[in-house]
Amino acid sequence: MPGIGMLSVILREIFGHREFPREPEPDLVMTDEDQVLAYETAGRTDGVMAASYLFHAARISMVIQGSATIIDLACGPATQLALVAELNPAISFVGIDYSETMLKSAEAYIKEKKLNNVVFEKGDISNLGQIPKNSADGIISTMALHHLPTLAHLELCFKEIKRVLKPGGALYLVDFGRLKHLKSVLYFAYMNRKHQPHIFSLDYERSLRASFLKKDFHGLAKSYLPDYECISTCLIPLLVIIKSPDAKIAQETLKRIKSAREALSPKYRRILDDMRLFLRIGGMKNDPFK
Ligand SMILES: C[S@@+](CC[C@H](N)C(=O)[O-])C[C@H]1O[C@@H](n2cnc3c(N)ncnc32)[C@H](O)[C@@H]1O
Repeated sequence: MPGIGMLSVILREIFGHREFPREPEPDLVMTDEDQVLAYETAGRTDGVMAASYLFHAARISMVIQGSATIIDLACGPATQLALVAELNPAISFVGIDYSETMLKSAEAYIKEKKLNNVVFEKGDISNLGQIPKNSADGIISTMALHHLPTLAHLELCFKEIKRVLKPGGALYLVDFGRLKHLKSVLYFAYMNRKHQPHIFSLDYERSLRASFLKKDFHGLAKSYLPDYECISTCLIPLLVIIKSPDAKIAQETLKRIKSAREALSPKYRRILDDMRLFLRIGGMKNDPFK
């Protein structure tokens, strides 16, 4: 059951008028060492990002089955990518990010996890010039598109995805959708403040202020990726996902996904289950945690 705080956010977002314009991230490319460390820490232990990383790792695993090579756009410290690569050892992954600090952290993490199916390249996700046309079996990107400075850059990124992805290739893009009210932004950014470093809450607030509208994502998907499905969390478009259909997934992988959910501490398992619920009502089928 949502609490009073969440209920007022839902009502305000459904019935209120849009209150504030998009505010681009002050640090588009994340290079500050403290900020990178806070971001890493929030995801790599049983931290506040654990539920989100596991949810998307499971969902990404469902769309990439049978692919040979997957590109992760703006992979950051590779916490998400490592989880996906661990669950899918037969698939090769290329993580792309523009921040050398992030790429250093990502390389070290992949080495620590002893994964041999991931490599990294420095690159700009709105200009993937080095990657040939129709060459990628699949493309993924998690919680990163709001780092693009303008809607025109988001459009360039969609154009690049269309150019690089093989026709019918696997796709999973997820990012925040813009909320209408600053009170809602502050509610989500600080709801877990007791369990996360302050710098992480600030980063979350900036991300929500910088996010694009759900209709921007849907419009670009319609123009450049019309064969893919757009889904968002019901009632409030906090998460917007553009994805290819789910493929058949090995029972062994599903078993690992379910036991990773069991291994989460109860408060993070609750966050994961809320994501499952809000996205299921939003239209997402084939729940891999069931
Ligand atoms: C919030 S992090 C997300 C990282 C990762 N995908 C995850 O889910 O944890 C956003 C990342 O986007 C990167 N970034 C921002 N603008 C970029 C660009 N134009 N090209 C490549 N990477 C970019 C930043 O350096 C940062 O690592």
